Amino acid sequence: MTRILGIETSCDETAASVVADGREVLSNVIYTQIPTHTLYGGVVPEIASREHVLKINQVIKKALTDAELTWEDIDAIAVTYGPGLVGPLLIGVSTAKALAYAKNIPLVGVNHIEGHISANYLSDKELTPPYMCLVASGGHSHIVRVDDYDRFTIIGRTHDDAAGEAFDKVARAIGLGYPGGPKVDKLAREGNPQAIEFPRASVGDSPYDFSFSGIKSSVLNYLNGAEMKGLEINKADVAASFQQAVIDVLADHTIKAALDFGLKTVSLAGGVAANSLLRDTMKERAEAAGLSFRCPELIYCTDNGAMIASAGYYEFMAGRRADLYLNAVPNLKIGER
Ligand code: KG4
Ligand code: ZN
Repeated sequence: MTRILGIETSCDETAASVVADGREVLSNVIYTQIPTHTLYGGVVPEIASREHVLKINQVIKKALTDAELTWEDIDAIAVTYGPGLVGPLLIGVSTAKALAYAKNIPLVGVNHIEGHISANYLSDKELTPPYMCLVASGGHSHIVRVDDYDRFTIIGRTHDDAAGEAFDKVARAIGLGYPGGPKVDKLAREGNPQAIEFPRASVGDSPYDFSFSGIKSSVLNYLNGAEMKGLEINKADVAASFQQAVIDVLADHTIKAALDFGLKTVSLAGGVAANSLLRDTMKERAEAAGLSFRCPELIYCTDNGAMIASAGYYEFMAGRRADLYLNAVPNLKIGER
């Protein structure tokens, strides 16, 4: 059995986890800074870094204790080195390097987005590549062909906002606060998704790319227009109609990509994968198209250390190691080594 300690600090969650053989979660500790950043309406990078410094050692210690393991049981330390906020990333990377050096344990650098994709292996022990994965988070929206556990091809991408970013901005505009995604998700359940027709944008000549800034602007225009006319806004209808527009595009492009590339399975990854309508819609439309559908359990959709340990396991088994020169790479691309 190969046990990997995964460390994640790329944004506002300080997280560590021990995973066996890339699939079996032995512990999963997440300290979320959301209550702190809520005061400012979004993540403040400098505050995030300071919170990571305060919590990281305790979070790692608890990950070992919860797994009932000691350092001797750990085969490698996997750490997110990008993409993400540079300060927060550096806390995780520096901690992982210090531990790897002090305990003489191999070190593996992990791409955060590839970690999100690997979260699928934690929830579905049978899933094997190839498959088509929609990765939608606060900073990224990609359709990725997962060729192997450690090989990825980007099929589609956003030309402007990430899907999660659009959720967060619309949530702010209708006064729901941060983080917007879960709040829009909840309020939308009380609204009518057909109440307002927001655009389903396609981009240029790529049927797999996305653009969410148009949908977001059209929500803002709708809100301004209603305010100028003195009309009362039904926030639940706005949330439901916006969410439906985003999800129609995410689901349809991903399913088209899977069919066009001859794949039989589609999956979800990233914070937006926690969205209840996206999960239901993808399942329904994928199955109607004869595809099988997978998605991580909710706890593995948003940032966590287990997904990093899983991706790290496959990197480790492929023989890749980081040395003590490992640095944070804030704009690391998917598939970049
Ligand atoms: O993957 P993640 O935890 O952090 C990044 O890597 O960005 O994703 C956070 C994003 C935020 O934009 C958040 O609003 C969104 O995921 N999100 C959701 C839901 N839960 C989180 N968006 C829509 N519906 C949700 N239930
Ligand atoms: Zn993330």
